[in-house]
Amino acid sequence: MHQQINSRQYFSIELLTWYERSKRDLPWRRSRNPYYIWVSEIMLQQTRVDTVIPYFERFIDRFPTIEALATAPEEDVLKCWEGLGYYSRARNLQTAAQQVVELHGGKVPDDTSAVAALKGVGPYTTGAIMSIAFNRPEPAVDGNVMRVLSRYFLIEEDIVKVGTRKLMEKLVVELIPDGRASDFNQALMELGALVCTPKSPSCLTCPVMAYCAGRIEGMEMQLPIKSKSKPPRPELRYVALVEGTGEHADKVLVRRRPDTGLLAKMWELPHVLTEQKNRNSNQKAAEIKANNKLSENNSSHLMLDALASPLDAELLTAGFPAKLQQHFMNIEHIFSHILWEMHVFKYVEIEQAEQVLVAVAEQQQTYDVNHLGDESLEYRWITQADMESLTFPNVFLKILNQYFNNHKSI
Ligand code: ADE
Repeated sequence: MHQQINSRQYFSIELLTWYERSKRDLPWRRSRNPYYIWVSEIMLQQTRVDTVIPYFERFIDRFPTIEALATAPEEDVLKCWEGLGYYSRARNLQTAAQQVVELHGGKVPDDTSAVAALKGVGPYTTGAIMSIAFNRPEPAVDGNVMRVLSRYFLIEEDIVKVGTRKLMEKLVVELIPDGRASDFNQALMELGALVCTPKSPSCLTCPVMAYCAGRIEGMEMQLPIKSKSKPPRPELRYVALVEGTGEHADKVLVRRRPDTGLLAKMWELPHVLTEQKNRNSNQKAAEIKANNKLSENNSSHLMLDALASPLDAELLTAGFPAKLQQHFMNIEHIFSHILWEMHVFKYVEIEQAEQVLVAVAEQQQTYDVNHLGDESLEYRWITQADMESLTFPNVFLKILNQYFNNHKSI
């Protein structure tokens, strides 16, 4: 028992001393403004510090107060978040800012349960805000902190389990030295980020190596114990990069996603989900078509091909007939539970749209087009400059930039 207390005290004291000496100068560490700390913690979820820094600075510049964030158009908030991913974080942050204005006069309350009640603020973020901004002895236990604790205290419980997180939260509360919650929690995060890293921990420079039970037992590389989560479900999607002609020359066709669901209201390239069970034959057909590069602009020829491919049909149904030119690129994007495998095809707008659409309307009766997407989506022709005023998920930004910067005239 006596030994255990010593090892705990040693941990807390050495960690704080090391932090004072080694902490990084990060923009959200230059003040105790709870709003800044809140924004930084939301951005830092699933995102690296280096990536977050410029986003944080731009965000605070653009929305310097909770009031400014609460009253801004949602589109502006999303635009400021563009590229960071997990856009529900941005929407929830704005909703929570509105809650703070309505319920707490625009100031983050120094009250754990009031903070925990804000939209998008879970146990980790609550603890981070309460400890870092208000110096309250609340635990802020995320994956990095669990890695540090499971190694130092040789905790062999599965960190995916809620019970393990609760056990670690209790441990942290016991470890926080009186009046030092803000620095202590940040020191734990910092050790996890700089020294006690996942793959190759720098034990030789670690301030608490001497009593690290994981290292003493030679277990540092095996810890933390983490059961595997299910791999993301793959979805093969065909994407159309439609080049405008005539009055749409130099423009590309984009559309806006529905108001609800994944990536709500963001802009994207037209695309369709292919049927997984037909995946191999679908893929083959599309690739053969792309390689053959249709050369004739002949509407009956086009019709047969168009209805053979769900992507061509999607464009026709939306009122934008286009001719397939060539395969453009493949790209993957992982959401937490879905893997989008995107096969991008370049198309050229067909100018005699009216004619083709009439033909399609007649033909549609014989084809099952029920699976096609929402016909009420808003479509728009845009230039590269127009991208500034619309918000795109990362994967579409990459495709569009690749096109506009490198391949436009192919
Ligand atoms: N990761 C999560 N929160 C952090 C913080 N406040 N500083 C550095 N890295 C972090």
